[in-house]
Amino acid sequence: MTTKITKAVIPAAGLGTRFLPATKAMPKEMLPVVDKPAIQYVVEEAVAAGLTDVLMITGRNKNALENHFDRMTELEDLLEKKGDQDRLAKVRFATGLADVHYVRQGDPLGLGHAVLRAKMHIGHEPFAVLLGDDIIDDRDVLLSKMLTEQGKRNATIIALMEVEPEAIHLYGCAAVETTDDPDVVKVTGLVEKPSAADAPSNLAIIGRYVLRPEIFEVLQNTKPGKGNEIQLTDALQVMAVNPQFTGGVYGVIFRGRRYDTGDRLDYIKAIVQLAVDRPDLGPDLRVWLQEFAATLD
Ligand code: UTP
Repeated sequence: MTTKITKAVIPAAGLGTRFLPATKAMPKEMLPVVDKPAIQYVVEEAVAAGLTDVLMITGRNKNALENHFDRMTELEDLLEKKGDQDRLAKVRFATGLADVHYVRQGDPLGLGHAVLRAKMHIGHEPFAVLLGDDIIDDRDVLLSKMLTEQGKRNATIIALMEVEPEAIHLYGCAAVETTDDPDVVKVTGLVEKPSAADAPSNLAIIGRYVLRPEIFEVLQNTKPGKGNEIQLTDALQVMAVNPQFTGGVYGVIFRGRRYDTGDRLDYIKAIVQLAVDRPDLGPDLRVWLQEFAATLD
């Protein structure tokens, strides 16, 4: 019997040092992508996949995050009085999206440590993890396929994406075997941020996971790894090589559009890519982009 998954965990407690000074007093997950904070895209994705119980792992400066998903009565009253229903709907939308809970990480000791903070809230059921700075284009399918695979295989499911060999050192990397589904692989091993020479494949782990609850026990016994942080990848490696206890690890290969808003260049690309397809901004932006591109060497 498999349990229907309803809970999503969104770690958003990292320091976001690549974005300093913008992230000095604000989490990077609150940086706007066009006109919505990155984290709202992520919550919308979770909700679209049926995950309406959202636990955010927050760090310093969590107020902006909490306020964003809370009522803002003064602003709502003002918009109501002005009769600005359009903006009022936008403000209210974030509030009613999901049942959002918060837990503090304290010190940012790594993604694995952040996920471990969800143990009490999750209990003994499988759950999804969505990184708060990683956006999957809502025109492409990933999370719902991962949830289906979890139900089918009763395993832990990670999301993988092919990257250029010279970029693999920025990611966790998977050693894999094929399955009968060309979009699903069996993960036989994982290594965090390997050099191109040591990488077992060009398949990089991206920020979506559907985890079995045994991950908590494994994380409790995981020592700090790369960067002196408790790495989720290290715990997943233990799950992958102990399939008899944990059902093993499978990877869903994602071939769609993904935006890593924690990286400055990718962040700029994300804004342009998403804005050109927006009916309100796209037409003018396309014209300007073409003119601007023509001025470049
Ligand atoms: P990153 O490694 O991209 O985040 O973590 P970072 O450390 O904030 O970024 P830089 O390198 O300093 O710019 C991926 C995700 O995991 C969360 C981050 O908030 C981000 O969503 N995270 C990371 C935590 O919640 N806690 C941590 O201790 C580390």
